[in-house]
Amino acid sequence: MTNSLEITQASKAYKRKNQSPVQALNKIDLKAQSGDFIAVLGPSGCGKSTLMLSAGALLELDSGKIVVNGQDLSELSNSQKASFRANNIAYVYQEFHLIPYLSVIDNVRIADLALATGSETKAQEILQKFGLADRLHHLPSELSVGEQQRVALSRAIYSGAKIILADEPTGNLDAENAETVLKALKDFTEQGGIVLMVTHDDRAVAFAQKKLTMTAGQWSS
Ligand SMILES: Nc1ncnc2c1ncn2[C@@H]1O[C@H](COP(=O)(O)OP(=O)(O)OP(=O)(O)O)[C@@H](O)[C@H]1O
Ligand SMILES: [Mg+2]
Repeated sequence: MTNSLEITQASKAYKRKNQSPVQALNKIDLKAQSGDFIAVLGPSGCGKSTLMLSAGALLELDSGKIVVNGQDLSELSNSQKASFRANNIAYVYQEFHLIPYLSVIDNVRIADLALATGSETKAQEILQKFGLADRLHHLPSELSVGEQQRVALSRAIYSGAKIILADEPTGNLDAENAETVLKALKDFTEQGGIVLMVTHDDRAVAFAQKKLTMTAGQWSS
C-alpha cells in the first residue's frame, strides 16, 4: 500500500469565553508517506495532542489543510469523515478505550460487530501475534495494562487502518510490553503504514526513524 499524510500550514486556537485564546497549532506543516515512523516530542501543552486529533479528523482546523491519501479532510461531511476515518486512521491512546463489557476478541472486531461482517479468524491471528491467544474471551478488566494496550493495538491493525496515530502508547507499559507494542508499530510501517507517535519515552523514540520536536504549536528548529 502507498499512503500519505500531508499537513499544510495548520492552525488551531482554542477559544473560551472571557479568556484569551490558546494558539495550540501555529501554521505547522508535516509530510509523511508509507514507511514513516515519526516520533513527535515536545513539552506539555505545546500542541501534540491537538496535532494528532486534527490529523485524525476529530478536530477542525481554523486554517490550513490536512490531506490523507489524497483526500482533503475539510471537504468531507461529518458522516463521510466518520467512514473515511474508519477505513484509514486508527488511534492508540495511553488509555485504551476498550469497551468494558465486550470480550477481547469482540473489542478487536468492534467495527464489524454491528454489521456481523469481518473475520473472526483474522482477529484471532492478530491477537495471537500479540501473545493473546489464550485471552480471547476475557474482559478488559481481567487483563494487565500491557495486555490491554496490545488489544488496543490489535484493534487498530484489524481495522485496516493505513495511518496509526499513537498518543503516548507506551506510557503505562513495562519494558517488555513497550517493546512488543513498538515492534508492532514498526512492522506496520514496514508494511506500508504510517505511524505518528507522541512520546516522552526514550525507548519509543529509539524505534522511530524520524524525530520532530514541537514548541508552542510549531516545530522547533
Ligand atoms: N479543549 C480545550 N480548550 C481549551 N484549551 C485547550 C483545549 N485542549 C487543549 N487546550 C490547550 O491547548 C494547548 C495544547 O494542548 P495539547 O493537548 O495539544 O498539548 P500536548 O502537547 O498534547 O500536551 P501534553 O504533553 O500535556 O499532553 C494547551 O495549552 C492546552 O491547555
Ligand atoms: Mg497530549
